[in-house]
Amino acid sequence: MNHTSLRTPCFIFDEAEFERGISGFRDALETRFDRVGIGYSVKTNSLPYALRQARELGCMAEVVSHDEYQLARHCGFSPDRIVYNGPMKSKETFLEAVAGGAIVNLEAKREIEWLRELPAGRHYNIGIRLNINISHISPEDADGHDDNSRFGFSDESSEFTDALQTIQAMPDIRLAGLHIHRTTHSRSPRFYERSVEYAAGIIKKYNLSLDYLDVGGGYFGIFPNKPTFADYAEAFHASLQRHDLANLRIIVEPGNALTASPFAFLSEITDVKQIDSRTRIITTDGSRNDIDPFFRKTDYLKEILPADTDRPAEPLQIITGCTCLEYDRLFTLTDAPRLEPGDRILYHNVGAYTMTLSPQFIRLWPRVYAVSRDGNITEVRRPSRAADLITLDN
Ligand SMILES: Cc1ncc(COP(=O)(O)O)c(C=O)c1O
Repeated sequence: MNHTSLRTPCFIFDEAEFERGISGFRDALETRFDRVGIGYSVKTNSLPYALRQARELGCMAEVVSHDEYQLARHCGFSPDRIVYNGPMKSKETFLEAVAGGAIVNLEAKREIEWLRELPAGRHYNIGIRLNINISHISPEDADGHDDNSRFGFSDESSEFTDALQTIQAMPDIRLAGLHIHRTTHSRSPRFYERSVEYAAGIIKKYNLSLDYLDVGGGYFGIFPNKPTFADYAEAFHASLQRHDLANLRIIVEPGNALTASPFAFLSEITDVKQIDSRTRIITTDGSRNDIDPFFRKTDYLKEILPADTDRPAEPLQIITGCTCLEYDRLFTLTDAPRLEPGDRILYHNVGAYTMTLSPQFIRLWPRVYAVSRDGNITEVRRPSRAADLITLDN
């Protein structure tokens, strides 16, 4: 791709790579299960253009708040193509989603009470999130000895049973699914084999007759030497098969696996300063806020453009961002060719939990270009402007 026509700073969305992830995951699931659903995790990257593409590629939208639900609706997802999770549902969207046939997984006790407000005379399906302590079901994948969760109803206390009894006493409501999302650091298929095993045990213990198991997110994307989508699908299948439950509809909610690799970020060097005999500060128009909003990364998968120059090497170049934060420093180069204003830096794999977490700090959100499958580049989001903030005024 020729980057010279692109205006920086900008994100670049690779549509072919996005499709590769979605169809790769779908193929892996469909090889093993008759009924599958992929819920695109909106929190991971809520770019409307990507959401519409995900819809066209057959994904559902996995949302976790009133605002995300409304965004998905604006992007053309009908309620029955939405998976609605999390404790931040509004009553209005909760009732619309349940009545409209969405996959709605109960997370908060107030939602159980909201079920009583659904119009009478019809039957409704509902799912429930099961609380999972990773230390208890897969210690090798746990973060410490008590890797418990804030989410879901626990079968280690009486709360899962209580919720179940309340739901089962409602004549118009049917428990149709179980949701078991947890992301582990290892992202290992072993964890899914065990979490699905745990879910299967719960299904048997309470003699539940369900339509679906929503396994949540937490997977690697397509990377060499990492587990594949087939490995994950096989892990789900192995556990369900053992319990004669492989006929359940399998729903996944991949975030990182679908959104990281299709997005790159391009910034340009705007200034260079020599601050002592060996150190050069390279200022760019990008920021750590754009691609490392938690300020945890120490390096990136990156390319310097132009790649080949015969400039002399500099002992130390510190590549910094455009904000006034001292710590807006992205990476350092030692004994590398001298960087000059106008050079560009292309960061790969930066689509997950970046654009949705960027603050409107100093420089508002950057533009986004999309590269279509035939190589055409179009601007799909203009940069935010000061005037956009004014429109929020009452
Ligand atoms: C309920 C739910 N589903 C899916 C995801 C996506 O997780 P990942 O990006 O690890 O695939 C998350 C992330 O927090 C989540 O909370």
